[in-house]
Formats: sequence, structure tokens, C-alpha cells
Amino acid sequence: MTYQHIDVRPIAGALGAEIHGVDFSRDLADDVVAEIRRAWLDHLVVFFRGQSLTPAQQLAAAKRFGDPVEYPFVQGLPDFPVITPIIKLPDEKINFGGLWHTDTTYQQRPPMATMLYALELPPYGGDTMFASMYLAYETLSDGVKEDVSKPKIAEHPIIRVHPETGRKALYVSFAHTTNFKGWTEAESAPLLNYLFEHQTRPEFTCRFRWEPGSIALWDNRCALHNPINDYHGHKRVLHRITFAGDAPRG
Ligand code: SIN
Repeated sequence: MTYQHIDVRPIAGALGAEIHGVDFSRDLADDVVAEIRRAWLDHLVVFFRGQSLTPAQQLAAAKRFGDPVEYPFVQGLPDFPVITPIIKLPDEKINFGGLWHTDTTYQQRPPMATMLYALELPPYGGDTMFASMYLAYETLSDGVKEDVSKPKIAEHPIIRVHPETGRKALYVSFAHTTNFKGWTEAESAPLLNYLFEHQTRPEFTCRFRWEPGSIALWDNRCALHNPINDYHGHKRVLHRITFAGDAPRG
């Protein structure tokens, strides 16, 4: 894929690319936004380095990609309720969202995407991992694809058709999926546990090392993420914006 305005450098075989040549503190031209969006759909999660943004600038940049919405459980910044501060303090042990998941799938219309902007980071650790649910779907055997796609519709389809790319993606996660519709949790557990293990095979993942000023923009419709909680005793602060999404379709 060729780009005229941005420099796209994949960081892993499965998903993830750094995009260079973008300054989100400026008004971005429509064709730059279109190229970023194309790279994002192609790589599932894209990363930007060296940004320096006020909350107003982050929000203005985010609005070029979607419709920011408030996060249901954590209060946003006082003047910017759609910007959720993600903070782990030195004396805290639990990190926000610290397991494999895609965002808030307990909602009927889970967010399309999430933009995370790093402000303050620990001296080591605190990376975020991502996993491609296209690859997770495509590498299932035909038998399992058949089994999970037909009778057992959870609150959302287990296999989701991406509304923009048309590709199928596995749409379960350890954090948010409890059982298949019509099955008890005990009955669902063996197949779900298989899918949870399968969907995070190392070759489906990438790992992002944050720096202050980094931004990650991920597609919740086809990628899982998992922030690694390996920096106890240090502070980590990021500003997060989620974007309105549609009801998943099988
Ligand atoms: C999240 O799950 O949205 C947080 C990701 C992170 O802190 O890296």
C-alpha cells in the first residue's frame, strides 16, 4: 500500500504500524486523515510518536476520526468529559484494563476505536500489547468456525464482520465474554477457554513501547489489547478517548 503524505512502518507481522510525519497539534488536511484511516484499517492499530497536545488539541484531533463518547465508569477531565485519565500511581497494584480485552463490549454499541495519548510513563514496563482478531478468526478450523458462528450468539456475535473492511474477526475476550447464549458458564468454559488462548497466540500480537507523547489509535472491532502491569512503584498517566461504534453484526 502506498501513501503520499505519511510514512507507515509496520512493527510486527500480525498488526501494528508506526506512522511518521503527522503532527496532531495542527489542523490535518483531509487527505492526510484519509491516509491515516486507510493505514489504521490495514494495520488495526497505529502509533504516533513525539506529539505534544493539550486536551483540547487531542480532542480536536480525535474528532477527525470519529465521534468521541464518554466512558461509562471513570469520570473524564472536568472540562473534557470525553477524555478519561488513565492513571496508575506508585502505591497502586491494579492497572486499568489489565487483561486481554476489547473496549466495553458489555454495551450494545461498543466503541469503534480508542485513542490513547501518553503523558507520564514508568522508567520501564507499562507496554501495551495488541492482538489481531482477523488472524484469530482465520486460523480457526472450519469445524470451530461453524460451531461458534451458528447457534451460539452471545449478546454480540462471536464472529463479527467488520463494517468497513468486510473481514471477519473473532469477537470474544477474556475480560468481557462469560458464556454463549443458551449455554451455562460451565458449558461455555471449555470452548471459550480455547478461544481465549488461541486469540492471543504470540504470532497474532504486537507490543508497543510507549514514550511520553506517543499516541495509539486502535480498532476495537478487530483488535484486542492488554496493558502490561509490570511497573509497580512508578506512575503512568495517559489520556484516553473512545469513539462511538455500531452494534456488531455477524
Ligand atoms: C485500556 O485498556 O484502554 C488501557 C490501555 C493502556 O493503559 O495501555
